[in-house]
Amino acid sequence: MGKLRKRMLTALAGVVAVTGLLSACGGGSGGSTGSGGSGGDKITMGFAQVGAESGWRTANTKSIQESATSAGITLKFSDAQQKQANQIQAIRSYIQQRVDVIAFSPVVESGWDPVLQEAKAAKIPVILTDRAVDSKDTSLYATFLGSDFIKEGEKAGEWLVKDAGSKPTNVVEISGTTGSAPALDRAEGFRNATKASPNIKIIASQTGDFTRAGGKQVMEAFLKAHKDIDVLYAHNDDEGLGAIEAIKAAGLTPGKDIKIITVDAVHDGMQALADGEINYIVECNPLLGPQLMDLAKQVVDGQSIPKRVETKETTFDQAQAKEALPSRQY
Ligand code: AHR
Repeated sequence: MGKLRKRMLTALAGVVAVTGLLSACGGGSGGSTGSGGSGGDKITMGFAQVGAESGWRTANTKSIQESATSAGITLKFSDAQQKQANQIQAIRSYIQQRVDVIAFSPVVESGWDPVLQEAKAAKIPVILTDRAVDSKDTSLYATFLGSDFIKEGEKAGEWLVKDAGSKPTNVVEISGTTGSAPALDRAEGFRNATKASPNIKIIASQTGDFTRAGGKQVMEAFLKAHKDIDVLYAHNDDEGLGAIEAIKAAGLTPGKDIKIITVDAVHDGMQALADGEINYIVECNPLLGPQLMDLAKQVVDGQSIPKRVETKETTFDQAQAKEALPSRQY
């Protein structure tokens, strides 16, 4: 499955590296800001967001809303509360409203073909942002804008391979939302990077749904079941931050008794890294708004655009987090 996804992604032409309940009918938690539907020169975008599960998502939503305003694009925004059915309903509503372009960050990878076919039949271009779909028919969307999640998992694993050396190392993993592209790919990438190190063992893996509460709950269960945890690999900062609470409550010191690797590099995660409670963070950039608006204008204008646009990302250790924190935008 992972390999198939990887093959599909690499097969895509033109990789470019560059830097409350549903209310899809115009209201939405982010607020619709305009007329709705095509008409006049102003572009209307329907955006179906995953939810508000993490600090990353909050920064992503803000970036999209602010960029739409600066780009003069009318935004219809909906929050799917991490439910695919809500997202599908929102997309159908955008199709009915005849928006000029639909963008969305798919909660999970599978099950999108029927609604994407409806958008295609209505001649409304679709831009995938942040998370990918596993549709074999790539004509169902105009482009994908986001991160290489496999690479993110690999960076996390590579750090651990260096840090652990030949020491026996037991890892517990708190994964993201089951079936989502980042959860599948970050798990795959981490395993790619650590599989040649027999001293590194993943002794447990469970989803924390990308939330702080989920991370705390899963870590509590891990700590009860395993007395020999050396490292936690959490698929995002929020899960790691929740796990830190559980580790402290168990009388252990996060970052020392249990080393912690996370993904995102949002402000709270970076603060915990600078404070020594997290050991390493792989960045995932949420500021996709400006590029999304540029792509939307190009696609509505009929210009040809690359099928995949990747964001540039880095990694942070504790010293780098201290240096980066004062100028961090999110
Ligand atoms: O899809 C990106 C992931 O979703 C982020 O890493 C996570 O924080 C968010 O919830």
